[in-house]
Amino acid sequence: MVPSSPEAQTMKKPPKNTNFVTSTLNSVRIHFSSHPRFWLFIAFLWIQALIIFIARTPPPCFPDRTADVSATVPARYVAPPSNDDDAASNATLPETAPAPPYTDECPSGRIYAYDLPSMYNKDLVLTNCTDLDPWNWECGIITNHGYGRAATELRRILPEDLYKSWYHTNQYTLEIIFHHRILKHKCRTLQPESATAFYIPFYAGLAVGKHLWMNDTAKRDKHCKMMLRWVKNQPYWMKSNGSDHFMTIGRITWDFRRLTDPGKSWGSSFLNMPSMNKVSRFIVEKYPGDEMDVSVPYPTGFHPKTRDNLIEWQNFVRDYKRSSLFSFVGENRNWAENDLRRILMNYCYKEAGACRAVDCAVSECPTNSSVVLSALLESEFCLQPKGDSFTRKEVFDCIVAGSVPVFFWKTDYEQYEWFLPGEPESYSVFIDHEEVRNGKTSVKQVLMGYSKEEIRKKREKVIETIPRITYGKPNAGIRSFKDAFDIALDGVLERIKEEKEWADFLR
Ligand SMILES: *[C@@H]1O[C@H](CO)[C@@H](O)[C@H](O)[C@H]1NC(C)=O
Ligand SMILES: *[C@@H]1O[C@H](CO)[C@@H](O)[C@H](O)[C@H]1NC(C)=O
Ligand SMILES: *[C@@H]1O[C@H](CO)[C@@H](O)[C@H](O)[C@H]1NC(C)=O
Ligand SMILES: *[C@@H]1O[C@H](CO)[C@@H](O)[C@H](O)[C@H]1NC(C)=O
Ligand SMILES: *[C@@H]1O[C@H](CO)[C@@H](O)[C@H](O)[C@H]1NC(C)=O
Repeated sequence: MVPSSPEAQTMKKPPKNTNFVTSTLNSVRIHFSSHPRFWLFIAFLWIQALIIFIARTPPPCFPDRTADVSATVPARYVAPPSNDDDAASNATLPETAPAPPYTDECPSGRIYAYDLPSMYNKDLVLTNCTDLDPWNWECGIITNHGYGRAATELRRILPEDLYKSWYHTNQYTLEIIFHHRILKHKCRTLQPESATAFYIPFYAGLAVGKHLWMNDTAKRDKHCKMMLRWVKNQPYWMKSNGSDHFMTIGRITWDFRRLTDPGKSWGSSFLNMPSMNKVSRFIVEKYPGDEMDVSVPYPTGFHPKTRDNLIEWQNFVRDYKRSSLFSFVGENRNWAENDLRRILMNYCYKEAGACRAVDCAVSECPTNSSVVLSALLESEFCLQPKGDSFTRKEVFDCIVAGSVPVFFWKTDYEQYEWFLPGEPESYSVFIDHEEVRNGKTSVKQVLMGYSKEEIRKKREKVIETIPRITYGKPNAGIRSFKDAFDIALDGVLERIKEEKEWADFLR
């Protein structure tokens, strides 16, 4: 892959030609199921390839995994719609001629954000977080456009300009961060007829999350059904049946697939609803068999405002003196006897000389960010057993702190493929969970087997990945590096654009 330091990446053009094969294969994969005229498509590809070969014009491609930090031009503002919302929410009559769909600034076209009734987003955010379900999961979710309040307590362990990039970010806040970022995006348009893609700002995770622990499945589906009824009445939905629409979901996919759940009891059935079949959604953990689920990183507390803040952080974690071999951060809420998390927590306490243990059930993790961050900064590796589902937010906390993740399930590598390096061994360690359980493998022995140089190389890859899994906090919309949000949005816009070009070709 590519040099590690972002300095080397300035204005780097993505190597598009090398991605042609991947892009083509992806297109084939996407189109094969939905279009019977597959062979016609193959012919189309050949013609396209020929034209490309002659004209040397790079074809559209999926987000480039190798270009991590590239300087971009300051974003031009599109003011959010004010009181003449009517024109926007009717989404019908153009007042002026549509802007050309593809420009240098917006190569994959423009986004139209629906002005949904507030019951589907703003009203779902409780400002009073004390009256919530078991773990107060909604506290602070809306503060500071979803980034949370500043983590000033980090002043004690971080230099001045660095602690200012840290916030108390709630792990379920993605829907709010994306909404805010899209409203300010340079490719947002207020004219639906000039849009390539349509964003539905529905806070599905917040709508469903409130009712997950109550025995009333109808409540979990209520907002989802009503929202779909609303959007299906929109003219631009009717034109496409939703295939150029997308949204963000801040909870794991399993919370929305009740009809696929063996007991048919957990979660909402939102993602089982036929109308959602063609809608792309960014989601923190995807269903591996569903192309429309695009897994995106959980938000961590790190939100640099500028490229300089980011580079400074990367240098800081690279040079940090790490005194422990590994760490384990977890929250022991009655883990089962044979839960690997429990086994590893006990192991970590036993190997206290090599391991930093943080049990968030007894530490003040949510209110004092130093507790977790200092353990991660001070360790070479961090153990990442799977959580209640395949993924856990702590993987991203670990990477942001420049610690090398240790995975115990291969399924961990099947998520976030737009964001994490393609070669698992380049940035992580894999130890089979069975071998840990039956005592065949000692975690400490495995980790001690890596030389300083091998660890340095892995860490360099981890550090190179930081911008790709980070949600920046653009000041007044000015961004100076490509972050997780940009990668996600570019990828889905590109996909929708390809679909549209294919449909036009068939017409
Ligand atoms: C939008 O709808 C409202 C009420 O349905 C109507 O009064 C208004 O003229 C419409 N605006 C446009 C631009 O179609
Ligand atoms: C907030 O929660 C507290 C404690 O549950 C309650 O007493 C108070 O009335 C709530 N305030 C609002 C505005 O809902
Ligand atoms: C939840 O609902 C199911 C079926 O409707 C019922 O069998 C079960 O007892 C209920 N559980 C609780 C805790 O109310
Ligand atoms: C949308 O779905 C309806 C009902 O399934 C179908 O009749 C219609 O042709 C579809 N439209 C498009 C553009 O795919
Ligand atoms: C936060 O945690 C750090 C590290 O455990 C500790 O040194 C510090 O005193 C704590 N700060 C507060 C305000 O509790």
